[in-house]
Amino acid sequence: MTHLACSLCSRKFEAGKPWNLCECGGPLLVHYDLDRLRENWSRDSFESAPDSMWRYAPVLPVEHAQSIVSLGEGMTPLLAAPRTGARIGSAELFVKDDGLNPTGSFKARGLSCAVSMCVELGLRKLAIPSAGNAASALAAYGAAAGLEVNIFMPTDVPQSNFIECKAYGANVTLIDGLISDCARIVAERSPREGWFDISTLKEPYRIEGKKTMGFEIAEQMGWELPDAIFYPTGGGVGIIGMWKAFAEMEALGWISAKRPKMIAVQAEGCQPVVRAFNEGAERSRFWDGATTVASGLRVPKPLGDFLILHAVRESGGTAIAVADNELIDAGIRLAAEEGIFASPEGAACVVAAERLIRDGLLKRDDKLVIYNTGSGLKYLEAYSTRFPRNAAGETDKLGGLITPR
Ligand SMILES: Cc1ncc(COP(=O)(O)O)c(C=O)c1O
Ligand SMILES: [Zn+2]
Repeated sequence: MTHLACSLCSRKFEAGKPWNLCECGGPLLVHYDLDRLRENWSRDSFESAPDSMWRYAPVLPVEHAQSIVSLGEGMTPLLAAPRTGARIGSAELFVKDDGLNPTGSFKARGLSCAVSMCVELGLRKLAIPSAGNAASALAAYGAAAGLEVNIFMPTDVPQSNFIECKAYGANVTLIDGLISDCARIVAERSPREGWFDISTLKEPYRIEGKKTMGFEIAEQMGWELPDAIFYPTGGGVGIIGMWKAFAEMEALGWISAKRPKMIAVQAEGCQPVVRAFNEGAERSRFWDGATTVASGLRVPKPLGDFLILHAVRESGGTAIAVADNELIDAGIRLAAEEGIFASPEGAACVVAAERLIRDGLLKRDDKLVIYNTGSGLKYLEAYSTRFPRNAAGETDKLGGLITPR
């Protein structure tokens, strides 16, 4: 790492210090000496590299290996999905399954990196507003590092997230509101309490962990990127991170200038990025009354909206919204067809892919990667609406007792 720079006004910031946003409100991005790395780091070194996202350590911000807090995140499988592909008209459909990460979601990547940097910078009390999965991941990595974790999340987060955070020993406050309300409370209280604010993009290192999603897709596809990547977009850090990863890999001489179409997938009940994309706007507007079972997509106004929209437009991609009933149906069909039980967020991408193939934006032979950001196991309330469960059928009951068959 050479320095950080503001993504809005380009002001530079020194490496090796705790930072949040630039004074102008812009998120900071980490820069590396890629010219020097190009001389010393080759794709061939991966045969003996760690089997986790830390195999890309030279382009991650941690300076000292002993600062790394790892639970085995990353290097998740890239799975072929031939049956779902055939049904939706794709001969080359793949699912990158980040549901296999520690705490069951891709948030493990960002928080492994961010918590490692907190260890390196000596920050011991952390706070986060979260839609759910980021809280679980911070609670786990905070526990692994022995740090104090303060979590603010909506009252109606999935039960899995609440229980995980409690089990990992975090201080949990449930807020009757959205992630944006939680963010306001964390911003207000952090200076008073001495907490370091790990909010999406207000902290510059989560995105560095998440960019390993882009490195892995390239490595797992033999250093040739697919034609399109479908990404369930809430705060959009995955898209911003992958876009950054592609630029870094090109600078390292590892991939060509070819880029996938980046497809930002949102929920109909909360689609600020889709609306801004369709309006040709550079920034999104706050989405009023945000509601969706895909809790990770319930972000009414992403802080990095301009970076998401830039990546989507520059890639020739698009932004598309999916209804809740469609994404739950898609999750169940994907599970039955491929043995992959995706989060509702990931499942939304299958619907988006089907629609874009039908509308002709993507073709049958295009290589498509659906990013499944989490495990369906974290969303049992959402999926259980389709599988009502009775203890036994009426015919099994005899005089009020349940009999063996
Ligand atoms: C399962 C899942 N998918 C997608 C997202 C959205 O992630 P991003 O902030 O990178 O857009 C979240 C965020 O909470 C999530 O938990
Ligand atoms: Zn700035």
